[in-house]
Amino acid sequence: MSAIFPPSNPSQQRRRKSSTHGILAKKQNGEVITMLTAYDYPTALIMDQAGIDMILVGDSLAMVVLGYPNTLPVTMEEMLHHCNAVSRGVEYALLIGDMPFMSYQVSITEAVRNAGRFLQESGMDAIKLEGGRNRLETIRAIISAGIPVMGHIGLTPQSVHQLGGFRPQGREASEARQLLEDALLLQEAGCFSIVLESIPGQLSKLISKRLEIPTIGIGAGPDCDGQVLVTHDLLGLFERFTPRFVKKYANLSEDMRVAFSSYKSDVESRAFPMKEHTIEMPDTEWAIFNQMLSESNSNDI
Ligand code: KIV
Repeated sequence: MSAIFPPSNPSQQRRRKSSTHGILAKKQNGEVITMLTAYDYPTALIMDQAGIDMILVGDSLAMVVLGYPNTLPVTMEEMLHHCNAVSRGVEYALLIGDMPFMSYQVSITEAVRNAGRFLQESGMDAIKLEGGRNRLETIRAIISAGIPVMGHIGLTPQSVHQLGGFRPQGREASEARQLLEDALLLQEAGCFSIVLESIPGQLSKLISKRLEIPTIGIGAGPDCDGQVLVTHDLLGLFERFTPRFVKKYANLSEDMRVAFSSYKSDVESRAFPMKEHTIEMPDTEWAIFNQMLSESNSNDI
């Protein structure tokens, strides 16, 4: 999918579109993979210009953009709407659409159809879904339809009620073993990559070494093959809570509050708009206009 506007950075002219094969090659070459979430056109455009390898339209959309308490309420239609906006801004990054709750759990047929919509209707290159051994048949069916799949294990937010909250996973030996087995099963089922969320660093290091496909960590320590963060966390734009594993690279909430208050006080004090923000009418036209007014019957206008 090509961007409406070409990238402003000329060095990016030589960049090639990221592919699942390119992502695998990065792991094989020992290069670290970068991924972030995006939900709108301007953010995706800037992220692509910054050279991020993969952009995920995450179902975190539900929480950080739509204001829900968790990811469960977001629908296929809402996801596709935001995927479309993101895809219009991106030329190079591999685009991944996150399958929302209940779009792949009910039946394999529905799962394949919904996965297909991300590619057919909204410009995505691949999909992500949550779960391990319980999702293998679904994943195989989606892949056999020609759709690349990214797995997601550890803290899987769509199971928040089953997991008893947003809490780290795999801290007990038996859980760690299950996660390693799940990762190997997802690889065998054909996933091109796996997100490891909120699991111990030692475990994600071991899983990353044992897998041929890349692991992308979030709250999983430094030894994954790549890293992902929710962009609103990284930008300081989501204040309801910040997980311990997040590094804030900006404080946009505060910047926005300052900008909005400054605008309010400028408008109220008539400091904005000024002459440079105002459209001028040529003096001659203004004179003609006034002449017209004086000649017309004041009741006509
Ligand atoms: O929805 C999302 O943003 C995600 C990331 C946390 C990986 O699934």
